[in-house]
Amino acid sequence: MKGSIVILTGAGISAESGIETFRAADGLWANHRVDEVATPEGFAANPVLVQNFYNQRRGQLRDEAIQAHAAHYALGKLEREYQGVVTVVTQNIDNLHEAGGSRRIIHMHGELLKSLCSSCGRREPLEGDLTVDMSCPACGRTGTLRPDVVWFGEMPYRMDEIMELLEECALFISIGTSGHVYPAAGFVETAAAHGARTIEINLEPSRIRSRFDEHRQGKAGELVPVLVEEILQGHIRF
Ligand code: OAD
Repeated sequence: MKGSIVILTGAGISAESGIETFRAADGLWANHRVDEVATPEGFAANPVLVQNFYNQRRGQLRDEAIQAHAAHYALGKLEREYQGVVTVVTQNIDNLHEAGGSRRIIHMHGELLKSLCSSCGRREPLEGDLTVDMSCPACGRTGTLRPDVVWFGEMPYRMDEIMELLEECALFISIGTSGHVYPAAGFVETAAAHGARTIEINLEPSRIRSRFDEHRQGKAGELVPVLVEEILQGHIRF
């Protein structure tokens, strides 16, 4: 069994699929106030606005033009063909890694295609829109359903498991994330401190570029398939 691989992904890996990133000049946070649509306080203040924001983004995933691309498929191939454990830890709430064939996926910021009941904690698969007058199928309360996404001020999911994977991995790869948001931005340091080789793929040097052993600059759709072939052919030492 070969050393395990952890791959952290961010909005940049979905950009070539047509989903906007957060911090680009025309990105999501240019058009919306973060505290309005991505905090528990924002949801309490205006649940309709917040539901509509995520309904719109969930609707995008039903758009046939939004498809997994070469980088997602390459990561699916890596998981199938590499003789060791490969885990994708994604900050993305879309389902493009699933579409690309990855199976070991940790959605640390949650998933658009799930609802969460803030009263009883039940999670349910969700295809359509969420509205404030819907009732939870488990506890029956009305107005308690929210998108199962992690907002600012909330704890990302499965952190204990992620920390263990980072401490054990031999190779850590970060793809398409700007390094602005913690704890994800600190993963490279944890992995490196425990001896992992670290590689970043990003369109521009991220905020945390200097913490990686290697930085490859360009589009995920072009660079990820190349890196995956190098790993599968044993050309990357770790
Ligand atoms: P950002 O929008 O901050 O960063 C996306 C990064 O991807 C940028 O550094 C881009 O240069 C890069 N990029 C763009 N297109 C690319 C491409 N085709 N190939 C490779 N890289 C590309 O998004 P994240 O880092 O994912 O959290 O943001 C992290 C978190 O901040 C999100 O999960 C979200 C947001 O606020 C919450 O909502 C809790």
